This record gives sequence, C-alpha cells and structure tokens, in this order.
Amino acid sequence: MDAIRIYGGNCLKGQTTIQGSKNASLPILAATLLIDGICEIENCPEISDVFHMQRLLESLGCKVKREETRIRVDTTCLSGCDMPSDSVGVMRSSVMLLGALLARLGKVCMEYPGGCVIGARPIDLHLRSLRKMGVAIEENENGFCAETTGLTGADLTLPFVSVGVTENLILAAVLADGVTTIEPVAREPEIRALCDFLSRAGARIEGSGTKRLVIHGVEKLTPVRFCVPADRIVAGTYLCACMCAGGQVFLKDAPVNDMESVLSQAVAMGAAIGYEPDGIVVTGKDHESTGDIITTGCYPAFPTDMQSPFMVVMALSGRGGRIEEKVFENRFRIVPELQRMGADITVHGNTAYVAGASRLRGAIVQAQELRGGAALVIAALAADGTSIVTNRHFIDRGYEDIVLSLRDLGADIELA
Ligand code: EPZ
Repeated sequence: MDAIRIYGGNCLKGQTTIQGSKNASLPILAATLLIDGICEIENCPEISDVFHMQRLLESLGCKVKREETRIRVDTTCLSGCDMPSDSVGVMRSSVMLLGALLARLGKVCMEYPGGCVIGARPIDLHLRSLRKMGVAIEENENGFCAETTGLTGADLTLPFVSVGVTENLILAAVLADGVTTIEPVAREPEIRALCDFLSRAGARIEGSGTKRLVIHGVEKLTPVRFCVPADRIVAGTYLCACMCAGGQVFLKDAPVNDMESVLSQAVAMGAAIGYEPDGIVVTGKDHESTGDIITTGCYPAFPTDMQSPFMVVMALSGRGGRIEEKVFENRFRIVPELQRMGADITVHGNTAYVAGASRLRGAIVQAQELRGGAALVIAALAADGTSIVTNRHFIDRGYEDIVLSLRDLGADIELA
C-alpha cells in the first residue's frame, strides 16, 4: 500500500544524518544544461523529485548516472527540447529548465507544470520576465513554446519575490548577451547554492544573498564538481518530530546557519538546542508555548515549508497560537486531517488558530502534498494508538526513507 503505519508514544533517541537539499539539487541539476561537458553533483538526495529531474535531463539527450548520492550529468549530446509530460506535470521544478534550455538551445516547448493543492502555482512571472530578455513565447491551453535568437541582458524589476522566478532568470542570464539586473530576488540558501555552483563554473554573478543580483553574461561555462548543502527543511522536519514525540536526537549535518528563524521558533516553543561542530542536538517535548504567532515569508523569514510541521507542535504545546500563511494561498489542507486526530484548529482566510494542549489520537489520515504529509507523520508519532498516513508518494518526493530514519530513532513505524 502507498501508506505508513505509526504506533504513537515512543520518544526519539539517537542520530540521523540530514540529506542533501531537494530545493538546491533541482535548480543545480537544471543548471548543468548550461555547461557543455560532464558535471558531478554530490549529496543529491535519493527522492522522487530528483529522479524526475534525472529523467527530464535524459529526455533532452543528456547522459545521467547516479553513483550513490553523486549524480554525473554529461550534456555533450544535449539535443531535444521537448520533455515528457508525465515528468513535467508531476514536478513543478521542470519550469526551471526553461531558462537553461533557452540559453543552450534557444527553444523549448512544454506543458504548463500545473498547480498543486497548496496553490495555483502560476508561471506568469517566469514568462513575462523571459519575454523581456528577448524570448518569444506562444501559449496555448495546455502549454507553450518559447524561442529566442539569443537571450539579451535586461533590467528586471519583479512585483514580488519568487524563488523559482529568481532561479529561472539566473539560468537565463549567465550566458546572455550583456548585463542583467534582477530585483527583488529570493535570498533562500538554495539560491546562494545555485549562484555558488554557477560562479565556480565561470559565471559572473554579483549580489548573491542580497535582494539585488547583477549578472554579467559570459561566453561559456566549464564543467565542475559541486556538493549540494544539507536540506534545511528536512532538518526542521526532524526537529519538529523530536519536539512532538519527545526525546533527544542529533541532527548530523543540519545547516544551522540557514535555520535561524526555525531554530528560534523551536526554542520559543520549548525545544532545547545544543550546537555541535557538525550538527545540532535537539531535546523535545516540554512545550512551553506562550501563545505563539508564526508568520511565513521569504527568507530569512519563517519558511512556508515549515508551517505544517510547526502547526503540529503548536497543537501539542501549552497554549497553542496562530499561523499566518503569507506565501501560498491554500496551505492549510492538513487542518481537516489534524482535526480528525483530535486537534482543535480553525481557519479564517490565511490564518489558522490553533488551540494548544491537544491530546492527539491515532486515525487514518491522508497526505495531500509533501510537507503536510510529513507533518501528519509527526502528529502520528505523538498520537495515542495507531495511525495510517496514506498517499505516502507525496512524502517520498522530498524525504529519503522517512520510515527507516524514524524507526532508527526509536519510532514504532512501518510501511503499510
Ligand atoms: C519554491 O517554490 C519551493 N520549491 C517551494 O518548496 C517553496 O515552498 C517556495 O519556493 C517558497 O519558498 C522548489 O524550490 C522546488 P515561489 P516556487 O515562486 O518557486 C507565486 C517544497 O515543499 N508565483 O517562491 O514555486 C506563487 O504562486 C516546495 O519543497 C506567481 O504568482 O515558489 C506563490 O504564491 C513547496 N507567479 C508565490 O509566488 C509566478 O510566475 C511564491 O512562490 C511564480 C510564482
């Protein structure tokens, strides 16, 4: 079955190593298309979204080989510009192949990547910005064809911050003719990792980590070997698991410097954090929450991807609190599932009001997207009795074997 069975009540103990970042691996794998030759990307997580990206690169003529967590991409025979719809549709990150393919091949046709339950996930800003860089785009009801005789640098002022748009425009600009300025840009650590990768390959990018990027187009990039940073959202997920189940866990390789807002929120809600040279020791369960308010936003604000796991912590904590979701329009789909487990949560618009000190009970609950699914697993760890979390495939998109990792930490959990 595509599900996970959890018998709640065990506290967590031991160590888990945090996997490489999904949201850094995907744009960096897309960026290899800009480089004629063989790149080696290390610490790529073994998750289905990365597998779909590998398939997309192969469908374009690249030779892609995984050796453990290293992915070798040879783009010498890059040819096609049509991607299999089953991978494009499944994974939104396919849209960031757009900038790379236009830079390398000058043409790409693809279906709209589609939305998901957390939001419509439009790509209007991607397309509008690329048009300003000399790209002609013809749209139809299913998708579009984009073509250019050569990308040209432009001064791009964006109406709001978008991670994906920032990534796509960086990939379009590094080989463009002239200088591109982009403002405001997303400042997520995954954007910094992409800029580090491209700079190592010879790109000229100024302002990495700030709100404004200046990119001087260059003639060519050269193949590099690069190690992807650890996944801050996966680290935050295991942090929440320990806070809800209780116990003490060492999160090896947790990217502490990229987790300030998450760690300070965890401490405010009762977690004890010990800092080691290669990770953090988390001690959980005495929830002292004093009625917290969590508001999600662009980095360095509290990340929207941590919103659902922290909702579970808040439901178990002393006085609960409220969560304001400012990034996506529909990211409270987990609420009815948590209510079925006994949580007392009400939603008005983009705000969830979470009553604290809930005693969660085991139930059959349905994952509907990646982070909400992980949060249901966390809730089941703390619930009385047995829970079944269905639609495990959503969780597999972003977490390497969450069942094995949690079982190794003492959870009573198995594939169902
Ligand atoms: C990235 O999605 C991440 N995905 C998301 O992580 C993350 O939640 C999100 O950034 C915000 O941090 C990857 O990196 C693969 P956005 P992205 O463009 O790029 C709107 C996970 O769980 N928008 O910053 O799609 C959009 O609808 C995933 O790992 C437009 O309106 O997010 C959203 O409301 C979930 N038009 C807002 O901008 C556009 O053309 C911010 O989205 C593009 C975006």
